[in-house]
Amino acid sequence: MNSAATWPHETPDADLPLVVRGVTKHFKRRGRAQSSSGRRRVHRAVQSVSFTVQPGEIYGVIGANGSGKSTLIRILSTLILPDQGEVLVFGRDALRDPASVRPLLNRVSADPSFFRAMSALENLLFYGRAYGMAGPAVRRRSAELLARLGLEREATEPMTELSRGQQQKVAVARAFLSSPRLLLLDEPTTGLDPRSKRTVQRFIDDARRDGVAVLLTTHDMDEAELLCDRLAFLAGGRIVAEGTSAELRAQVAGTDRRPDQVDLEDVFMAYTGRSIEEDEEEDQPVEVGQHDPI
Ligand SMILES: Nc1ncnc2c1ncn2[C@@H]1O[C@H](COP(=O)(O)OP(=O)(O)OP(=O)(O)O)[C@@H](O)[C@H]1O
Ligand SMILES: [Mg+2]
Repeated sequence: MNSAATWPHETPDADLPLVVRGVTKHFKRRGRAQSSSGRRRVHRAVQSVSFTVQPGEIYGVIGANGSGKSTLIRILSTLILPDQGEVLVFGRDALRDPASVRPLLNRVSADPSFFRAMSALENLLFYGRAYGMAGPAVRRRSAELLARLGLEREATEPMTELSRGQQQKVAVARAFLSSPRLLLLDEPTTGLDPRSKRTVQRFIDDARRDGVAVLLTTHDMDEAELLCDRLAFLAGGRIVAEGTSAELRAQVAGTDRRPDQVDLEDVFMAYTGRSIEEDEEEDQPVEVGQHDPI
C-alpha cells in the first residue's frame, strides 16, 4: 500500500549509508594511447570493488599512490560514472538518480577548490546557501566550525593567503556544513602538521559519535588504526583484504605470532607482497577493441 510513498529508487538497503557492488572504472590513456595495432590502451583504475559502510561506522580505504582511492571517491560522490557496478546511498541509486543522493552526502577532496579571492567565511556562506541552508543558520554554523578547527583569525582572510593546511581545514569545515549523513573523505589529513592532523581526526571521530557514516581514504596506517572501525586495502584498483584491524592482524599473525605483534603495514605486505611505499601503481595498460566495455 505504501509503495507510492517510497522514493522511486528506494530499496531494502535504505538503512545502509553506502552499498558498493562490482564498481569498475577504466580510463583511456593519452600519450601512448595508440598501440601498433591501432587499438586503444586503457587503464583499470578501479576493478570490481564491493563493500558496505554500516550506520555510524568509519570505513577506511587504504592504498598507495595510484591505487584508485580518489577515483572511487569521485564515483561515490556522483562526479564521474563507473563503467560497471552499483552504488546505493541509503538505498537510493547514486548512478541512475544522483540528484537524490547529493543532499545526503558531502566530501573532502584531496585537492579542494574554492573561490580564492573570497575569505574562508565567505566561501562557507556561499556553499551553505548553495546547500539550501538559511542565512543566519549558515553564518552560525560556519563560525562554529571555523572556530573548532582553530581558524578564527584566518576566517576573514582571502583564501589565497591561507596555507595549504589551513585551506584543507576550510575544506573539512565545508564538508560538515550541510550536516551530511554520509561523509566521503579523500585523504583529509594529508599535508597537515601533527596538531592540525589531530584536530581534524577528532572532528571525524566526533562525526561518527553524532551518527554520521564516514568513508575515509588514507595511506597513513596510524590514522587507519586510530579512526577506522573496518578497513579495506586497495591495490591496483582491487580490494585485496577487508575487516577490522584486529581481524586482519589476527589473520596475518596466524599461529606463529600474537595479533599485537603484527601491525597494519605487515598486513598490507602480507596481502600485496609489498610495503605501501613500494606499491606505487604498475602501469600495465590493457588493449581493448572498439566494442569492449570500457
Ligand atoms: N582522469 C583520468 N584519466 C586517466 N587516468 C586517470 C584519471 N584519473 C585517475 N587516473 C588513473 O587511475 C589510477 C588511480 O588514480 P587515483 O587518483 O584514483 O589514485 P589514488 O589512490 O587516489 O592515488 P593518490 O594516493 O596519489 O591520490 C591512476 O593510475 C591514475 O593515473
Ligand atoms: Mg588520490
